[in-house]
Amino acid sequence: MSEPVILVENLSFTYAGGFQALKDINIRIEENEFVGIIGQNGAGKSTLLKNIIGLLKPTEGRVVIVGNDTRDIPVSKLSIRVGFVLQNPDLQLFADTIREEVAFGPLNMGIKGKELDERVDSALETVGLEDNKKDFPLALSKGERAKIVIASVLAMDPEIIILDEPTCGQDYHGCHQIMAIARNLREAGKTIVVVTHHMSLIAGYAERLIVFRDGGIFMDDKVGNVFSRPDELINTHIKPPHITRMGLMLKDTLDIDETILSESRLGDIVLSRVKKTSPNPN
Ligand SMILES: Nc1ncnc2c1ncn2[C@@H]1O[C@H](COP(=O)(O)OP(=O)(O)OP(=O)(O)O)[C@@H](O)[C@H]1O
Ligand SMILES: [Mg+2]
Repeated sequence: MSEPVILVENLSFTYAGGFQALKDINIRIEENEFVGIIGQNGAGKSTLLKNIIGLLKPTEGRVVIVGNDTRDIPVSKLSIRVGFVLQNPDLQLFADTIREEVAFGPLNMGIKGKELDERVDSALETVGLEDNKKDFPLALSKGERAKIVIASVLAMDPEIIILDEPTCGQDYHGCHQIMAIARNLREAGKTIVVVTHHMSLIAGYAERLIVFRDGGIFMDDKVGNVFSRPDELINTHIKPPHITRMGLMLKDTLDIDETILSESRLGDIVLSRVKKTSPNPN
């Protein structure tokens, strides 16, 4: 078996006040996977991500990122390998202009001159903020502020990208824009981990879902397999996307033997069944 890029082994984490937020978590994420993490509020998703990026260190167990135990490597060094967008991106904004903000990471990596400009321009174009270079980051909307942090991550070109609820505060277009960026990065060879409460959105992008419940892993499986178990998911206050539930309701009537994850797939199946049953006009 190849070495995973993210290895979480017997991870438990207890906050300073004594609250245990993670209990014996085991996860292996291989290079170039696109993984969604879901679960009710307070289940421990953000705490896990903070352990992965080294902001928090395990109380027990270990987290190994591309061969580096997070206890042995400074967060600043780890951030070159793992880019992250926190649930509250404002905590990551500090510069006076968007350009300065996005240039900060690569500058610290020693990148200068033309290459720096190219990285900043390309990252800002990817998120659609190329005309806002001189703007004050906190003057933009919440959705746009998340995009600035995403651009800052892109400019550093890390191999793993971790996004904690990146679509929170985004409109429909913004949600799909961000997920499409994640998909393109994945196609370019990156490993992507996204935490979200947006079930229909993640269904269209991730291949694997890890479901958290009360600080533990409740399910870890392909998206279709997770969403085909609504009766168990209800225990963690998760409902599969509407279209998946509709597919399950029509399972016997339309003879569906797969988990439906998109409107277009259900549309294709309905059309094929209608064609099968409609009388030949000749
Ligand atoms: N700094 C902290 N000190 C003490 N407890 C904390 C701290 N941060 C989080 N917790 C608690 O740890 C648990 C897990 O929190 P976490 O933020 O990881 O959940 P989450 O799954 O990301 O939730 P959400 O979906 O609301 O973002 C919660 O009960 C939370 O109240
Ligand atoms: Mg969270």
